[in-house]
Amino acid sequence: MSGHTRRTVLRGAAVAAATGALGASGLRAAAAGPAAAPSRPAARTAARHPFLEGAFAPATEELTAFDLPVTGRVPRELNGRYLRTGPNVLGLEDPNAHHWMIGEGMVHGVRLREGRAEWYRNRWVRSAAVAGKLGEPYPGPVPADDFACNTHVVGYKGRILALQEGGAKPYRLDDELATVGPYDFGGTLKGAFTAHTKLDAAADELHALAYHPARPDHIRHVVVGRHGKVTRSTRIPLAGGPMVHDFGLTERHVVIFDVPVTFDPAAAGRGDLVPYVWNEKHPARVGVMKRGGGPVRWFEVPMTSWYSHTLNAYDEGSKVVVDLTTFPAPFLVAGRGSGGPYAPGSPSLDRWTIDLARGRVTRRRLDDRPQEFPRVNETLVSRRHRYGYTAAAATFFEAYRSVDGVPPDEAFSSALIKHDLLRGTSQVHRLPRDAAAGEAVFVASDATDARAAEDDGYALAYVHNPERGASDLVILAAQDFTAKPLARIHLPGRVPLGLHGSWVADA
Ligand SMILES: [Fe+2]
Repeated sequence: MSGHTRRTVLRGAAVAAATGALGASGLRAAAAGPAAAPSRPAARTAARHPFLEGAFAPATEELTAFDLPVTGRVPRELNGRYLRTGPNVLGLEDPNAHHWMIGEGMVHGVRLREGRAEWYRNRWVRSAAVAGKLGEPYPGPVPADDFACNTHVVGYKGRILALQEGGAKPYRLDDELATVGPYDFGGTLKGAFTAHTKLDAAADELHALAYHPARPDHIRHVVVGRHGKVTRSTRIPLAGGPMVHDFGLTERHVVIFDVPVTFDPAAAGRGDLVPYVWNEKHPARVGVMKRGGGPVRWFEVPMTSWYSHTLNAYDEGSKVVVDLTTFPAPFLVAGRGSGGPYAPGSPSLDRWTIDLARGRVTRRRLDDRPQEFPRVNETLVSRRHRYGYTAAAATFFEAYRSVDGVPPDEAFSSALIKHDLLRGTSQVHRLPRDAAAGEAVFVASDATDARAAEDDGYALAYVHNPERGASDLVILAAQDFTAKPLARIHLPGRVPLGLHGSWVADA
């Protein structure tokens, strides 16, 4: 694709028609008119690619829709934006030259105010490459490391930041998701940043572990202080160039995962899209460092699994507790696009307890059902939590496995899960089989109320609605998790199954 992308603006009745709120005939009528055309999946390509098909099919245009139809009631205390991002390829010529981690970042957002769903927007992040493909000018000099910033989108001190790991700096978006430009915390971020930040709300500190494939001998622990500037950047020696996707933060410690997925210069030389390989020669370790820096205490762990995301971490006396999702080893990240298969297994939820006094790590399976995208009440990041939220999107794991012809797991498909990690129980909010639920984010009813119950709030997720061929923003009452949604906000297009996002509350 070159030149300007299609843009569609929908208002009032056109939104209702395009979202199918007027019924199937309304949807057809809307689709027939160019002024109200919903986003359509990309045309099927001759060479099938599991991460370009079905729930993953990229959105092909940018939509703006106002006054969205709602089934149910939007809680009036939800004032802000629910944002989520993911790779959404733009102008891909060869489907074989695709990798699920790679692709231009597209942020989807719904703005809620006073019980109304004011708007929906989806926007590509205007990196220099994307601006070029869209035929738009790029403001300012092109960064040396120009990334799609397709992995996470977070709010930080009134700014919206699109994030990616492996060398990228953030891109800043405005309140309506238009790209402002690269963001370096007022000139204080000198190198790379991360996809997964940890905000300690009580200390008002934003933490990151940054790595860069061109510097495979170390990573950096970056701390952004209360004034929004980088106050500390600590070099941590780490040989072999491991992929450091996520980490843990407690009140006293930083938890680092040194994994056997490492940068492969030969793969990079071949032009592999993701030049990281499962490396049996690279020991799997978990490290604990004091938040203020200093030596890392490493603990070798069996190479039987690969962590993907941390739900949260906390100190418990002389122990550090981390809840996380793990994949069975080996985790073959390269996948199609660089010649290899995807990982054969599905992720599960585990608890790793690092006993600093006894010098050992114990690993316990909390839930062996396939699930990913673990989240916690964000006000508790680095502190002890009781509840966690995960998504079980069979589509995601099927896409992994379909390459090798492994049949999908029929037993447990699209669902959102609330875990009570104190009692060891869970509640499952089941969704239609093709619903392809993405990550669910917990939003507190009142984040300023320190006495509120940990689960007093809502779980928000974009969920595909197969009947409409478009997505809904689903709002669940976290304390009544299996009940029907409080609200289903009907979007005019699909939100492809993507990666991470955030609730960005109004100031
Ligand atoms: Fe992630």
